[in-house]
Amino acid sequence: MAATSPLMSTYVRQPVAFTHGEGAILYDTDGKRYLDALSGIAVNTLGHAHPKLVQALREQVGRIIHSSNLFEIPLQTALGERLVALSGMTNAFFCNSGLEANEAAIKLARLHGHSRGIEKPEIIVYEKAFHGRSLATLSATGNAKVQKGFEPLVEGFVRVPLDDIGALRKLAAERPSISAVFLEAIQGEGGIHAFHLDYLRQVRELCDQQGWLLMIDEVQCGMGRTGKWFAHQWAGIVPDVMPLAKGLGSGVPVGAVLAHGKAAELFKPGNHGTTFGGNPLAMRAGLTTLQVMEEEGLLANAADVGAYLAEKLEGALKPTGMLREIRGRGLMIGVDLDRPCGDLVADALRAGLIINVTADTVVRLLPPLIFSRANADELVDKLVPLIRQLPPVKGS
Ligand SMILES: Cc1ncc(COP(=O)(O)O)c(C=O)c1O
Repeated sequence: MAATSPLMSTYVRQPVAFTHGEGAILYDTDGKRYLDALSGIAVNTLGHAHPKLVQALREQVGRIIHSSNLFEIPLQTALGERLVALSGMTNAFFCNSGLEANEAAIKLARLHGHSRGIEKPEIIVYEKAFHGRSLATLSATGNAKVQKGFEPLVEGFVRVPLDDIGALRKLAAERPSISAVFLEAIQGEGGIHAFHLDYLRQVRELCDQQGWLLMIDEVQCGMGRTGKWFAHQWAGIVPDVMPLAKGLGSGVPVGAVLAHGKAAELFKPGNHGTTFGGNPLAMRAGLTTLQVMEEEGLLANAADVGAYLAEKLEGALKPTGMLREIRGRGLMIGVDLDRPCGDLVADALRAGLIINVTADTVVRLLPPLIFSRANADELVDKLVPLIRQLPPVKGS
C-alpha cells in the first residue's frame, strides 16, 4: 500500500474513509455507522454537518472565500471582537493552524525579550508538552520522538516539570534571559495532564513579578471543551498570550493568537503575516461556531456530559483493576490504563467507535461538544468491553 501511495508516509492510517456524518455519527464508504468520540482530534466542535454551519458556509462560499490581509476583512474584525470579549484579552491575529498560532506566540515572546534588552530571550516550556511540528514548536515540545531527526533544534527553550513552582522560582532567580512561560492549561498529546489551578495562579503571579509573558496554548483544551471557553479560566487568570485553533472553526482550518496588555502591542506592520489567515470563509466558520455554541448551551453540555461520562467510565473500569486514573475536564478525558492500549483504536473502529490513544496507555476522548448523555452511554457500552479484553500486562 505504502509503496504505491502518492502520499508521504507521515501517518499510519486506519483503513477506513468517512464519507459523511450527522451530529456525533459518521458513516464510512460501506455505509457503516460510527460514534465519533474524537471529533477529528478536538476539531468538530458542532459535530458533523450542523445545519447552521452548513448554511453559513454555503452562503459564504457563494459570496467571497478569500481576499487577503492587504484589505479590510470585516468578518475578521467581528470574530476578533467576539474572542477578545470571551477571553478578556484585547487583540487577535488570525492564522490557519495550531502551530502557526504558537509560532506567533513564540515570536511575541522573543520581541518582548528584546524590548527588555535581553539579547537571547528564553522561554520556559514543560515536560510532556506538545506545541506543534514546525521547527520552533517542535523544539518547544517535550517529546524526544517529535524532535528526533530534526536537530539542530531551535534554541531558547528551558524545560521544567509540571506543577513545580520551585523550579520556576529558581529560574527567576538564576536566569535573567527568561521572557515568557509557555504551557497548555491541560496537556493533550502528552496524555491529558491538567496543571493544578493553584499552580497556574502562582505562575500568573510570578510572571507579573518578573515581567514575563504568560502564554497559554489553548489549541486543544480551549473553545469550550472543558466547560469554560478556555481551560485556564478555571483558575480565574488571564494570560498575556493565548494561541487557539482546532475547535474554533468546527472543521474549517482557523487559528488565532490573542494577546493582552503589552503583548498586544509588540507586532508592528512587517513583523508577522499570513496569506490565508483570517480569510472570510474561516472567519464565518469561527463566528458561526461561537454563535451555535451559545445558542445550544454547549459549554454547559461539555461540563455536564463530560462529568457524566467520566463517572460512568470510572464506575465500569474501577472493578477491573486496569484503571490507573481518569484525567481531564469536561469533554477532554484521558483514561489512563495499567497497560499499553494502542490496539484499542482498531478494536473500537471494528465496533463502530472512534477514539484515540496517546502516551501509550491513555485512551483519549475528545467528542464533539454536542455529545449527548445517550452518546456517552453508547460510548461506555462499546469501549468498556474492549478494554476488559486487553491482554494482561507482561509479567503479571
Ligand atoms: C496543544 C496543541 N498545540 C498545538 C498543536 C498543533 O496544532 P496543529 O496541528 O493545528 O498545527 C496541537 C495539535 O495537536 C496541540 O494539541
